[in-house]
Amino acid sequence: SQKKYQETYRPQFHFTPPKGWMNDPNGLVFYEGEYHLFYQHYPDKTVWGPMHWGHAISKDLIHWENLPIALYPDSLGYIFSGSIVVDENNTSGFQIGKEKPLVAIFTYHDMEKEKAGRSDRESQGIAYSIDKGRTWIKYDKNPVVANKGDVDFRDPKVFWHEQTKRWIMPLAVGKKLEIFSSPNLKNWQKESEFGIKESTNDGVWECPDLISLKTKEGIEKWVLIQNIGRGAVNGGSGTQYFIGNFDGKTFTNDNSPETKLWLDFGADNYAGVTWFNMPTKERVYIGWMSNWDDYATTVPTSTWRSGMTIPRKLSLVNTTKGFRLNQMPIENYKNLRLEKKIIQKQAVTKNVLIHNASVQKEINLNFNISTSTASEFGFIISNSKNEKVIIGFDKMIQKVFVDRRNAGKSDFSPKFAAIHSANLEDNHISIKALIDNASIELFVNNGKVAITDLFFPNEYFTKVELYSKGGKADLIGGVIYTLKSIWKK
Ligand code: FRU
Repeated sequence: SQKKYQETYRPQFHFTPPKGWMNDPNGLVFYEGEYHLFYQHYPDKTVWGPMHWGHAISKDLIHWENLPIALYPDSLGYIFSGSIVVDENNTSGFQIGKEKPLVAIFTYHDMEKEKAGRSDRESQGIAYSIDKGRTWIKYDKNPVVANKGDVDFRDPKVFWHEQTKRWIMPLAVGKKLEIFSSPNLKNWQKESEFGIKESTNDGVWECPDLISLKTKEGIEKWVLIQNIGRGAVNGGSGTQYFIGNFDGKTFTNDNSPETKLWLDFGADNYAGVTWFNMPTKERVYIGWMSNWDDYATTVPTSTWRSGMTIPRKLSLVNTTKGFRLNQMPIENYKNLRLEKKIIQKQAVTKNVLIHNASVQKEINLNFNISTSTASEFGFIISNSKNEKVIIGFDKMIQKVFVDRRNAGKSDFSPKFAAIHSANLEDNHISIKALIDNASIELFVNNGKVAITDLFFPNEYFTKVELYSKGGKADLIGGVIYTLKSIWKK
């Protein structure tokens, strides 16, 4: 049933829409053996427009089957971002037969009101499915949360709070969060606000996700994943997170309001949220690989625009600096592995070609920082046109970076050609990089740092070279796997 997905820059192991425009992941839910991925979608053009919810399902979160569009705009507005819950106890009353109702909670964005300059343009609506997400019925009493005058009032990410036995809806409202509760997904009451002191940049808050996680020692914390429209760590839209507690009504931040924790230091991971439920106890996250500021609608793709990140398992780690969120690709991506190449331990003093085959690959490299005398080292992916992406560690400033300044096309945006970096104060660096036709996802030291970046070379990158500057870099070892396409048999 799949199209060939062979266009230039079409990702080969990341989800992309069959055609047209895609932005945020929506309605991430697991039901009856199927993972659902809905997404902000405009099927008719490759730029943002009247928003629908596109739909795909998967059995492993890696291979996807496209389903028909799930939600279409209607008289109340475009269908903006939102979430889906499994209503196990039929609190909504939507259940008729044996299938549990899946209830979608989303934002209506009314373009007529926007054109008229009215501030009450966004409200929350619901829809339900009693056939495993195949067809959706909008609730006849929408909206369920009316707008009292906030221009930005969107992106409900609902979960069931077991202790208080109610539904909780974090909602992005301007530059802060509002939390609502409901017994039945239809009647909502505001409980609290968070973020007045925390939002110091000029971006509106979008797509929140409030989740609880436990460290391996068993300490539970609540984490608020908060997407920020502009002014993020490495330019444009990006994702912060806050660590704290949630008592069923209010989220409290463990850290000072000035503390900024970033989920990804690259430019191209936005609007990410987690699956509502999982067959395992894992928390799995997926983001939209692009940036609103300012090339989301101008990157040089053809029949479609934008892809999702690899799904990532989130974990909570208790560090000397406090609790931190780590992320690694979900285990299932390993099913994509084809050929394996071992990279021997060596002292790198010049460029060394270590791989020159296949575009899609996984690069694992492990360097000893303390014994390395080089001021900078790492690896380079490149083509025969001397276009490249450099993935390096700068020892002087203790930063890991992705440099895409000379990575091919960048004329579609003055903000594209850039270096994105993150602090790393360890004495070793172990890197896992997933490379697709037009993206790199870098996971450093077990996912304590992630950097996600797009690139558009004029010829695909097949070469991988080690490099060092001003001394030797001690490579402890490495493994490279070529990865297969999810679209080919
Ligand atoms: C984030 C976002 C959301 C909104 C959606 C509209 O990328 O701006 O806040 O619901 O996109 O498509």
